[in-house]
Amino acid sequence: MENLKVAIGCDHGGFHLKEKIKEYMEVHHIEHKDFGIYIKEASDYPEVAKDVAKAVASGEFDRGILVCGTGLGMSITANKTKGIRAVSIENTYSARVSRAHNNSNVLCLGERVIGDYLALDIVDIWLKTGFEGGRHKKRIDMIE
Ligand code: RB5
Repeated sequence: MENLKVAIGCDHGGFHLKEKIKEYMEVHHIEHKDFGIYIKEASDYPEVAKDVAKAVASGEFDRGILVCGTGLGMSITANKTKGIRAVSIENTYSARVSRAHNNSNVLCLGERVIGDYLALDIVDIWLKTGFEGGRHKKRIDMIE
């Protein structure tokens, strides 16, 4: 895995899984910053999604991971920031191809949709998979 800097965030629906992902980051010595929330209390996912998206789009962080109840609100919001290619992922194949073909830079997960072990496999694959470039680069340029 390249030396990635990863921005992480969640709302109350994704708090437990965000903490698990932080443990994964610590065990694997991956540089990361937690953009909140820091205690499990009702919060508005667009706030943290915007903060993480801006941190990635600015180049300060290489990737972002956002967790809410479904992954959906986070991805809808993160994709409003120019340069962000956020994906809401529920299986390992999509995790891999979202990197290899779509060069996704923000991963969104739904704590209420998938279990911890699948989520951590998705995180692992998503962090380790590189963008293939080539014919896919032209299509990414078209999105921009
Ligand atoms: C919060 O109840 C829930 O709506 C939120 O975590 C997320 O699933 C939104 O997309």
